[in-house]
Amino acid sequence: MTTTDPAAPPVNPNKALWQKGDFTRIAQTMRKSAETLVGSLGITSGMKILDLGCGDGTTAIPEARLGADVLGVDIAANLVAAGNARAQDLGLTNCRFEEGDAADLSGLADDTFDLVVSIFGAMFAPRPFDVAKEMVRVTRPGGRIVMGNWIPGDPTLVAQILRISATYSPPPPEGFVSPMTWGVEDDVIERFAAAGVPRDRVSFERDTYTFSSTGTPSELLGVFRTYYGPTMNAYDAAAANGREADLHAELDALFNEQNTSETDGATTIAATFLRVTVDV
Ligand SMILES: C[S@@+](CC[C@H](N)C(=O)[O-])C[C@H]1O[C@@H](n2cnc3c(N)ncnc32)[C@H](O)[C@@H]1O
Repeated sequence: MTTTDPAAPPVNPNKALWQKGDFTRIAQTMRKSAETLVGSLGITSGMKILDLGCGDGTTAIPEARLGADVLGVDIAANLVAAGNARAQDLGLTNCRFEEGDAADLSGLADDTFDLVVSIFGAMFAPRPFDVAKEMVRVTRPGGRIVMGNWIPGDPTLVAQILRISATYSPPPPEGFVSPMTWGVEDDVIERFAAAGVPRDRVSFERDTYTFSSTGTPSELLGVFRTYYGPTMNAYDAAAANGREADLHAELDALFNEQNTSETDGATTIAATFLRVTVDV
């Protein structure tokens, strides 16, 4: 019999989602694009960088390799531990990871960072207006924020995984703001405006991340099904309604259709995202 400790703190569903499974297994398929993106950020030695929603350091570690002084913050304890282990294995003393919530960075002082980077990270935190405010607050005047956000309705991989998954999942709780709204330019402008940043300091471009795996597209879907919290939840919800096979068929078709690898048995899938740059 299981009992619930009445003194136990309530579960934070945002944290539970990302601690579920093992996102490091997905991150391993994204490392190359992360290096390319980091290489485009104009990072110089000694620059102070906050990498928010950093996971196990897919962008934080390349930032540190360029000589920046990097703090990675993430809500998931397992990913923070994985990031610190990677930094230690690589002998990177200028990169550390700690637990925190993008919507409340109260442990960090105002005007601390030259650059705040959040690639598919802060977009997943609830309370987007607080997230924008916190990112602006910890960035020094003259500094920059760079976000990578998936785009709702986009035909490429991740937006489609999330769209298909939603059709098999129960409706979100009242007041829930979809993370995908961070991929809508007007919403992004409104959030940064509320944080005190005028529209002309926010710019947008479409960019691409490539998922690469030595396994087949169906095997890559297997990795998402086993290790990626949002996909795990979608399979659980579909199973509860006897629709698991339908969900699997839709996702399997998606992964196979989007694969462009010319190597038999391997997978290369490009996904489009909105790159947001904010001059603070
Ligand atoms: C799709 S992963 C991306 C991780 C990493 N940026 C990368 O590129 O591999 C989303 C990350 O956002 C983190 N995250 C979600 N909600 C968060 C929050 N409220 N505060 C901080 N991190 C959060 C998750 O734990 C997860 O590591």
